Order: sequence, then structure tokens, then C-alpha cells
Amino acid sequence: MYSQMQYSKRLRELFPEVILHAEDLLLLETFQIKYLPDRVAQKEFATLLCTSPVVHRFLITKYPPIDSFLTRILEENSTVGDEDLIEEQCQEALWEIADLIIFNKNPELFDALNKIKWDISEISSITSLEGKVVADVGAGSGRIAFLVAPFAQTVFAVEPVTRFRTFMKEKAVREGVNNLYVMDGTLDSIPLPDQSLDVLITSNAIGWNISDELRELERVIKSGGHAIHLLQSDMQNENPFHEVMISSSWNYSCFQDGDDLKMKLRYYKTT
Ligand SMILES: C[S@@+](CC[C@H](N)C(=O)[O-])C[C@H]1O[C@@H](n2cnc3c(N)ncnc32)[C@H](O)[C@@H]1O
Repeated sequence: MYSQMQYSKRLRELFPEVILHAEDLLLLETFQIKYLPDRVAQKEFATLLCTSPVVHRFLITKYPPIDSFLTRILEENSTVGDEDLIEEQCQEALWEIADLIIFNKNPELFDALNKIKWDISEISSITSLEGKVVADVGAGSGRIAFLVAPFAQTVFAVEPVTRFRTFMKEKAVREGVNNLYVMDGTLDSIPLPDQSLDVLITSNAIGWNISDELRELERVIKSGGHAIHLLQSDMQNENPFHEVMISSSWNYSCFQDGDDLKMKLRYYKTT
């Protein structure tokens, strides 16, 4: 009945308390709307656009290049008549991209997920953080940034989603963390000077634009500094960038822990 769903089932399991509405898409930021062509279930998303002209107009106004993609999926997918089926398809359309919505709508629920956890020793066994200038890029709710802050001299938490940045700023005040600075930015455009970091860490965040990202993060790391990428999955996916990262072009080493059901990968290199 539905086009191939990659994420909706898993996201429904991860966030059982969340109820999604079409209007939640009005929370999306421009850079997230750019991701939609690669992420949406097209048939179901076309149904959602038909039932919610406000969302359709919002997406085009916020990011005009999406217009041709939305026009095409509307042309290629005929709408269903049955009301229950329409509602079911709209829900599937939303849940397939629920991570993007929940980042903006419920950052505290994302932060509370205990399925994704790292211990400080999994980072400090690669390099000491004592007295170091560290960045967590694609920081989300700041799980890694707050984990490393007690050990580092300074931590920059770089994150493009506004609600996540607000969440981190409020948490830093609440918890008296005064060496953590929250910044807007993306992995392929990091708002830090050349060679300014001792350690750059990402956690389940690379891969939106892999080559530009790997190049950009090496720009901001000092010579002799460290790049560390943490990846954790309980979706039995392999890292699609594994070959690129360990290739002679990028030269990452990889530690692998866990099993097929909960795989933890740590990529690291000295720059
Ligand atoms: C799966 S979350 C991981 C968040 C956090 N690192 C963690 O481990 O909890 C992915 C994060 O990457 C951010 N993101 C999306 N596109 C990005 C980009 N181009 N550059 C950097 N971060 C990005 C998202 O907003 C989100 O916060």
C-alpha cells in the first residue's frame, strides 16, 4: 500500500509519546527543507501536500528550489479518495521524516533518548581532552558537548537547528556550564577560524555532504589535532561512508564495538 518506508517504523518506536500534525512541518528550517527530496515518501507526501495547502505554500516560500520537486510528485501521484486512507498516508508522510520535525518540536525528547549513549572514556581513550579546545559539530541537544565540557578547556557546540541551540544554551545556564559556547553552523561551513581546534567531534552527524564536510573540518583542526566521528545505530545500517573515510584520501582508522543490533563505530585521525 505504501512506498518503501525507511525510517517511519523505527521513529514511531523511538518516540511513542509524540503526535504529529501536518502543521508541524511549518517548524522546518530552510536547510532541512533542502533534505526533503532525498527523505520523503513521495506518494504519501503528495497526499499530505494536497490536504495541507498551507504547508505546500510554506515550503515553496521558505525554499523556492523545492517547487519543481513538489510539482513533480504531485503530478506523478494521484490522490486517494477515502478519508481514513488519506489520514493514514499523511501520518506515514510525517513519520518518515519525524526526526527532522522532532529536532524542532521536541528537542527534550531527542535529548532523553537513552538508546544513543557514549561514555567519556570512548573519546578520551583516543585523545586526552585536558586543556583542549574542542568542538561538537552537528551537536543536536549537546549530548557530546556536555559530556566533554567538564574535561576540556573550551567547547564549541555547532548546530543548525535553532531549537536545539536554545535547548543547549538554557541547559548550560541551568547546569552552570560556563565553558560551552553554542553556535549556528553546519559541517560544511563551520563558523571557526582555520586551525583553531585541538579536537573536533561529531556524533551521528556527518554525511549530509561528506567530502565537503571532511575537508571543512580539517580546515578548523590544528595540525596534530584530532577528528573523531562517533556513529551508533540500532537499525542494522552500515555506515555508507565507511569506504570513503578509511580510504587513502581521508585515512581514518575505525574502532568497531557492539553487535548487529547495536553497532558503535568510532572513526578517528590525527590531522
Ligand atoms: C542524529 S542528530 C545527532 C545529534 C547529536 N550529535 C547527538 O549525537 O545526539 C543529527 C544532528 O545533525 C544536525 N545537522 C543536520 N544537518 C547538518 C549539517 N549539514 N551540518 C551539521 N549538522 C547538521 C541536525 O540538526 C541534528 O542535530
